[in-house]
Amino acid sequence: MNSRIKIAPSILSADFAQLGKQVAEATKAGADYIHIDVMDGHFVPNITIGAPVVASLHSWTHLPLDVHLMIEQPERYIPRFADSGANIITVHVEACSHLHQTIQLIKKLGMRAGVALNPASPLILLDEIMTQVDLIVIMSVEPGFGGQAFIPETLDRISRLRNILNNRKLTTELEVDGGITINNAPEIIKTGANTLVLGTSIFKAKEGINQALQKIRRSVN
Ligand code: DX5
Ligand code: ZN
Repeated sequence: MNSRIKIAPSILSADFAQLGKQVAEATKAGADYIHIDVMDGHFVPNITIGAPVVASLHSWTHLPLDVHLMIEQPERYIPRFADSGANIITVHVEACSHLHQTIQLIKKLGMRAGVALNPASPLILLDEIMTQVDLIVIMSVEPGFGGQAFIPETLDRISRLRNILNNRKLTTELEVDGGITINNAPEIIKTGANTLVLGTSIFKAKEGINQALQKIRRSVN
């Protein structure tokens, strides 16, 4: 793989009272996206943030805002996130009854469209939709919370998906989300991912956001 590996810090682990400042620091440290986890307390057992936070972040970063919707019936909120300036919207296969339509809606509103898959959902669920999306997000933890351990079986899923994408000559971005650290990041990249989402390993790092992000960058290059 020759294109640059992308690092997407997840603000779920940030200090929300200093969110703008921390996002600016991650931007300066060389992040590629800012990953924003939206949870509704139904699809996942946690509640986080909504479109107003996405809108506010624009004055703190020029990076694409990568919005991960862990909500039921996401189509109800997609126009609102578009208005707030989201650049990428990812919906869960498990949360959409009309996935094709939802993906087309995201694209029609001028954003890049992603589809996410929970750890126990089979890759075959992506079979028909993978030609339609810009991004596939493989969950390497059960969605809902930051700070969980990487599920080891994910590596095999990444490798199988990489083969499928290559065989079908698709350049779809492959993002992995959950439990990524400086220790497992190199292997996840080697297995076939292009983009790593990291929350705890960046925003809760003892050495600070800047150092942590640069170390991870060096480990995967
Ligand atoms: C989990 C979220 C992840 C999470 C990653 O539901 O989608 O983006 O914030 O956090 P860490 O890196 O702490 O696992
Ligand atoms: Zn996420």
